[in-house]
Amino acid sequence: MRLIIYTGKGGTGKTVTSCSTAIRLARLGYNTLVVSADPAHTLSDAFMVPNIGSEPKQIINNLQALQIDPVVEMSKQYSTILSYMASIFSAKGIDETLAYEIAMLPGTTQLFSLLKIEEVERNKTFDALVLDMPASGEAMRYLYFPKLVGSIGRKLTGLAGMFSGVAKIFQPLSKIPAPTKDVLQSELQLLDRLDALSDIVKNRNITTLRLVANPDIFSIENAKRAFMSACLYEINVDMAIINKIMPPTAVGSEYYANWVQYQQQKVQDAKSNFYPLPVKEVQLYNTELRGIDMLERHAQMIFGDSDPASRFYNGKPFTFTPEGRTLHMAVTVPFTEKDDFDIERYGDRLTIKVKSATGTVVSIVPLPIAAAGLKLAKAKLNDHELNLLFERENDREKEKQM
Ligand SMILES: Nc1ncnc2c1ncn2[C@@H]1O[C@H](COP(=O)(O)OP(=O)(O)OP(=O)(O)O)[C@@H](O)[C@H]1O
Ligand SMILES: [Mg+2]
Repeated sequence: MRLIIYTGKGGTGKTVTSCSTAIRLARLGYNTLVVSADPAHTLSDAFMVPNIGSEPKQIINNLQALQIDPVVEMSKQYSTILSYMASIFSAKGIDETLAYEIAMLPGTTQLFSLLKIEEVERNKTFDALVLDMPASGEAMRYLYFPKLVGSIGRKLTGLAGMFSGVAKIFQPLSKIPAPTKDVLQSELQLLDRLDALSDIVKNRNITTLRLVANPDIFSIENAKRAFMSACLYEINVDMAIINKIMPPTAVGSEYYANWVQYQQQKVQDAKSNFYPLPVKEVQLYNTELRGIDMLERHAQMIFGDSDPASRFYNGKPFTFTPEGRTLHMAVTVPFTEKDDFDIERYGDRLTIKVKSATGTVVSIVPLPIAAAGLKLAKAKLNDHELNLLFERENDREKEKQM
């Protein structure tokens, strides 16, 4: 099976791009499923096919679509654990409705769309699966969860154990209901599924993540961060799509001319930011993108005549190596020692400004959370590889004093 995941900021075009990819795959003969976890009925809107719901619905030959309802999925697979967690909180006198809200871990709805993938893979019914994710990669964090829980004694302290621990902090002496056999059982099942899911998503032969952004700073930075996080999790990222670019023919008034010029600059920035990924530029069409015909044209714009199931890039543009008390980070960048550039750190990112013949290009390097308490000690460029060394703030001081 091949799994292609689209991620990016709200409204950039993830859903339409997922649908376009799925149509092209189906036309090429892959038995394809497109899955969306968007709220409301976005797949129905995009395909202009009514009533796409939580059971696969045929769209064209070889293509089925499914809209995940997180509430339905949750009551199918997670209700035992959830009601146990809620019982812990309501034992503390918290209103039951509120207890359920609290018991819901952040990102849970996304997690259920990912778990659906595990189910599809297990049933081996499809050759290709396209997943339209709601927000940028938050749920990816859960992929490390089974390992974490496993390492502290999977059988004894799972999710429920952890939660009763949390509840104890709030009120140490009161009674916590003990997890029943059912709870422990469904918990272990969930952990096994997360394990399997983690293997699928990290398998570079199966899974590829693609970034969708628009020609604006906000969505490019957002996608760049998703790019970095995916690399942290060692997930393959093979393409960035810059969608909704105003074509130069839109020039006619100064108002549009400004936009066209601004967006062209952002497209340049995107190329440098997503280097060395291939960057596909897609224009803003003269009408809202929907319906099978338009979606097919959109697929043509992105993939030309190539197969969307290919891997368009397979390198590792960000690598992280902790060495003792330091963190080493290597980033592939679109410039070399010969270029005129400067690096500045603003909190959780580095900004690199490169002066080129066509003006200044800005490249953002998002930093992992692990670098937050660390100081950038060295930055060295070897050809196209930027090597960054982070160390604890006071290590250098101590060295100086000695
Ligand atoms: N290149 C384009 N030209 C014209 N309209 C487009 C283009 N790309 C997307 N659209 C339109 O933009 C809107 C948002 O697209 P879409 O729903 O795919 O974005 P999304 O990233 O899935 O949004 P959300 O984050 O809300 O899920 C839709 O109305 C879609 O038809
Ligand atoms: Mg969407």
